Amino acid sequence: MTIGVLGAGYVGLATAASFAARGFAVVCADIDEKKIVKLQIGELPFFEEGMKEVFAAASTPAMFTTDLPKACVCDIVFCCVGTPSAADGSADLSFVRSVAKTCADAAPNAVFVLKSTVPPGTSRSILEFVQGNLRVAANPEFLREGHAVQDALNPSRVVIGADDESVKLILLDLYTPTGAPIISTNTVTAEMIKYASNSFLATKISFINDIANLCDVIGADVRSVAAGMGLDDRIGAKFLQPGPGYGGSCFPKDVRALMHLGQSVNVPLRILEATTAINADRQSLPYRMLIESLGSLERKRIVVWGLAFKPGTDDIRDAPALSLLRRCMADDARLVAYDPLVRSLPSEFAEIEMAGSAIDALQNADALVIMTDWPEFVDFDRAEILKAMRGNCVIDPRYVLR
Ligand code: UGA
Repeated sequence: MTIGVLGAGYVGLATAASFAARGFAVVCADIDEKKIVKLQIGELPFFEEGMKEVFAAASTPAMFTTDLPKACVCDIVFCCVGTPSAADGSADLSFVRSVAKTCADAAPNAVFVLKSTVPPGTSRSILEFVQGNLRVAANPEFLREGHAVQDALNPSRVVIGADDESVKLILLDLYTPTGAPIISTNTVTAEMIKYASNSFLATKISFINDIANLCDVIGADVRSVAAGMGLDDRIGAKFLQPGPGYGGSCFPKDVRALMHLGQSVNVPLRILEATTAINADRQSLPYRMLIESLGSLERKRIVVWGLAFKPGTDDIRDAPALSLLRRCMADDARLVAYDPLVRSLPSEFAEIEMAGSAIDALQNADALVIMTDWPEFVDFDRAEILKAMRGNCVIDPRYVLR
């Protein structure tokens, strides 16, 4: 059986890697020529633990190409292109439509499976858009950056959304050997499972962040509160880590898109409105704490430890650290940043000095803000940090330090 993958981002490459590892012939296509050239010589366009090794050891090598129609003439075609936020908060489906059209032209009646995160109703609208010239299914992914390969190879669950019995059977055949629990449903429900899952996790984070705000004022230790709550297996310990708000390429955009969908059908999702407001408030917290401690930030040397939106990745999309840097730049602060994996920043941050190590970054620092909970930061204690700095302002919104 041959597998086509359209889009070579995190989702596309994790999908391609997992099917190649399972011995399927995989053709992975992307319009980004630079990315494909890198992949053809065994380089990844981003850091992802273990992915390079999986491609290198795959029982059937994956083929990378810029020829999208070539990936469409496969038995199953996975759509893994991006669905960024449009200006109104809805998901921009133009890439999905474009590859669906390519697929319908190249291989009418192909099994076109949406792995991209798409709003409920998208599979049906795509079927309409291509005038029935594809067999469309929804099969959302649940992989986490930093664990993408592991999640793709050993999924916690497989969601198969099909409105057509023959397509459902093809996907059941594909996934039953993985041994993962399978939920088989219609397309709109499958799409909703993905949005509801991400929105719930984002809400869990905002909940603990709201509790953290209160704990900090009344003198309670939020980490112990989270640990105590987490031992109740109805609550669970995961995603109760307070921080400077959730970031990354998924939660902010997916929560916005679900709220947009709710509004469009007159069912406002009030809990997500609160989740979003708390997140924005927590994102601005490190900056407010800096102002409270230093007064003006003008010409102050401010060190930021951690740029990635979470540990284990070099991804800075919607990273809380970037919004802090922007605020401090506007106040004319002197900024120094250190991250174990992020070695450069986009040109808008050209004035920021990149330090070679966490401790080097602290020289002459007036303040330190820890924005990502990288394991290497946990090993520091406050006294050691303060000794290396000029000032005494240490802001730790992720409660990394002991
Ligand atoms: C998220 C979901 O966890 C995946 O299940 C989903 O498949 C993926 O989105 C997607 O839709 O593609 P990811 O964006 O890789 O995965 O990152 P997470 O590990 O979920 O973290 C998201 C953000 O929440 C990060 O900024 C992280 O620091 C923050 N976070 C997470 C907290 O602030 N506290 C926590 O307890 C957990």
